[in-house]
Amino acid sequence: MSEFDLTVRNGRIATASETYEADIGIRDGRIVALQQGLAPAAHDIDAAGRWVLPGGIDSHCHVEQLSGMGVMCADDFYSATVSAAFGGTTTIIPFAAQHRGQLLPDVVADYARRAAEKAVVDYAFHLILTDPTEPALTDHLPTLIRDGITSFKVFMTYKALKLGDDQILDVLAVADREGALVMVHAENNEIIDWLVRHLQAQGYTAPKYHAVAHAPLAEAEATNRAITLARLLDTPMLIVHVSQAEAIATIGTAQRLGAHIHAETCPQYLFLKADDLDLPGVEGAKFCCSPPPRDAASQQAVWQGLLDGTLKLFSSDHAPYRYDDSGKLPNGEKTTFKQIANGLPGLEVRMPLLFSEGVQTGRLTINEFVALTATNHARMYGLLPRKGTIAIGSDADIAIWNAEREVLISHSMLHDNVGYTPYEGRRIKGWPEVVISRGRIVVQDQTLQVGRGSGQYLRCGVPEPVLKARALRPPDNFVRTLFEHSQASQKDAQ
Ligand code: URP
Ligand code: ZN
Ligand code: ZN
Repeated sequence: MSEFDLTVRNGRIATASETYEADIGIRDGRIVALQQGLAPAAHDIDAAGRWVLPGGIDSHCHVEQLSGMGVMCADDFYSATVSAAFGGTTTIIPFAAQHRGQLLPDVVADYARRAAEKAVVDYAFHLILTDPTEPALTDHLPTLIRDGITSFKVFMTYKALKLGDDQILDVLAVADREGALVMVHAENNEIIDWLVRHLQAQGYTAPKYHAVAHAPLAEAEATNRAITLARLLDTPMLIVHVSQAEAIATIGTAQRLGAHIHAETCPQYLFLKADDLDLPGVEGAKFCCSPPPRDAASQQAVWQGLLDGTLKLFSSDHAPYRYDDSGKLPNGEKTTFKQIANGLPGLEVRMPLLFSEGVQTGRLTINEFVALTATNHARMYGLLPRKGTIAIGSDADIAIWNAEREVLISHSMLHDNVGYTPYEGRRIKGWPEVVISRGRIVVQDQTLQVGRGSGQYLRCGVPEPVLKARALRPPDNFVRTLFEHSQASQKDAQ
């Protein structure tokens, strides 16, 4: 009898740093052998002529989440994780989203229960933090961080979600002390509100004006301000869903100055444009997300940011709202751009789009592709080496790609619940045909092979940027000491 539960043989393996030919032996969900000439186990996959890559990690997706406007995502933890798996992603990190007035431990318990019942691949959580009260900062956040939720997103825009700069400083200081990473949605709320008001006053309500209201400068200004706050405390920060040149330049400058600033982008900023919002009626709603898709020069800047390492994460920002009155169009054909739920689906096509447009065109090496879609996410959120790579001891999360397979993207072939894809009609080349999570074959022969609730919750460790910042930083930062002392005296006074 074989010492392995499953073998993957004859394929070409690529990690973020290496490319080689070897067979993989898997036992108890882990990779236990990596060498040529392994004998086949009873379950054996012949990967001849295929790429054998780490399963993807999508570290920015919204699942079974109520938006700031109170609209429920179209995907629950079942449909989202099934869709992720069919697109080669074996770990997702969605958000446990706090709305003002809610207690963080209750929010997390609710998301954890729903995910445990439904997920088919593994998952961790970030928080969305909208109400940084004293108990949240001094008690709830530290406890949740110790329990494995080591990243949280804050918003600089959306009335119902946004924090002021002073609140962001509080959150950064707590995250820094407790070993967590703050993710920032950087858009200037006042600029956007001002533009919305004047667009509406002139009767400009079509979806295309969403992209006008969410001006590139609103993103550039807020990105610079967020980075300034992180630099004041010399603490790490991740700017999410970066879409345009000036923000990327600001991030790059901060990185060269030695600030611990990291950044993510998404398919919509490489493959969609603001022009896509300009369709008859309200059809452009299908392309409304924030920040919005921009222009060709922005797409070029995003590609450049991925190539030169300014942007280290490629996530979907899957935020699925149906194209009807339950989602994007609360007032049907009369829905104005301000009323459209923001967000696009992308979990399933994230990796195939980048494989086709990045690897097949020669823009990216296969190793860069793996880094951008898997390994860098595991590093960023404290999941390496368990997730995000192919190595002895790592979870056997593997996607076997057929680089020759030509696919015409259409919503009918996807597995989400959204009812449309903004990439309808695109021809791409390359698709993950067999997807394995912890040694379980999840997708094979275009069929789901596992049941609801078979995914596992992952506790994240300390994010690598936090460890790096701590190692590099001089011990005497007066501003951080000031925060610690004033928090201690506030606690004593209670
Ligand atoms: O428009 C977007 N991106 N919606 C999802 C929520 C967010 O801001 O990431
Ligand atoms: Zn956001
Ligand atoms: Zn998002």
